[in-house]
Amino acid sequence: MEAAQCTLVTGTSSGIGRATAVRLSRGRKLILHGRNVGRLNETREMCWRPAEHLLWSCDLKAVDKLADSLTPLLAASELCVEAFVHCAGIVNVLPARSVNYTVAHETMCVNFFAAAEIIQLLLKRKVNGVKQLTDIVFISSIASRFGARGHSAYCASKAAIDGYMRALAVELAPKVKVNSILPGALRTGTCDAEILAKLQPDYPLGLGETGDIADAIEFLLSPKARWLTGQQIVIDGGRTVNISRK
Ligand SMILES: NC(=O)c1ccc[n+]([C@@H]2O[C@H](COP(=O)([O-])OP(=O)(O)OC[C@H]3O[C@@H](n4cnc5c(N)ncnc54)[C@H](OP(=O)(O)O)[C@@H]3O)[C@@H](O)[C@H]2O)c1
Repeated sequence: MEAAQCTLVTGTSSGIGRATAVRLSRGRKLILHGRNVGRLNETREMCWRPAEHLLWSCDLKAVDKLADSLTPLLAASELCVEAFVHCAGIVNVLPARSVNYTVAHETMCVNFFAAAEIIQLLLKRKVNGVKQLTDIVFISSIASRFGARGHSAYCASKAAIDGYMRALAVELAPKVKVNSILPGALRTGTCDAEILAKLQPDYPLGLGETGDIADAIEFLLSPKARWLTGQQIVIDGGRTVNISRK
């Protein structure tokens, strides 16, 4: 029997990942990744046809354990992943003098190494069947291109995923399209209201919503984006073109 196709989205227990899962569930069978099973179940219940979607709970910091977790899941469910969206991400805001190897490595594991580990698995026929991948989308950040105090490890991890994205776009064409989305600041449940109020004046269109990013992901995975690969797509309400002073 031929494996059914699905879309794997990391970080679906909250924020952008959750909004993306709900949006994509209209037309796709999903593997919903995160750590917190309670919140993953909530996401599944918010999706269209909840019973169709699978949960994958695992800690992306343990990069060396991902193969042992994802490979049996795909085999047992007889699914193959045609699209991969890496939304999971962490940010540890710390001064550069405190960013040692442990801090930097943890950020790199979740924001970059885990994505590379998952993708090399999904490119293997033995793991992901013969149809294999057609689309990859990374949720990067405008911090990939610009600096911010206390964000050295985060900026480095997002620049890493974008460099990786460009290399994959070339190497995996024409079978696989690979792009990054670079959001500016969004209004999410986990954000501090005081910080958001301080950021707001720098955004010509105001702060974003998770749905703004989910819209772009849906577009990138659609046939309308068939000639689009290797791009950093900035969605930031005009923040990075704004040089006016407050
Ligand atoms: N929000 C913004 O303003 C903004 C702006 C630019 C870029 N981004 C990027 O957008 C992505 C999503 O951001 P968000 O605001 O939606 O974040 P969020 O609400 O904090 O969600 C982060 C997701 O990543 C998962 N995650 C974190 N650490 C993990 C780990 N060690 N192992 C497995 N999963 C882990 C979380 O799962 P659990 O909760 O289950 O652990 C959660 O599902 C991130 O890559 C972020 O850098 C966000």
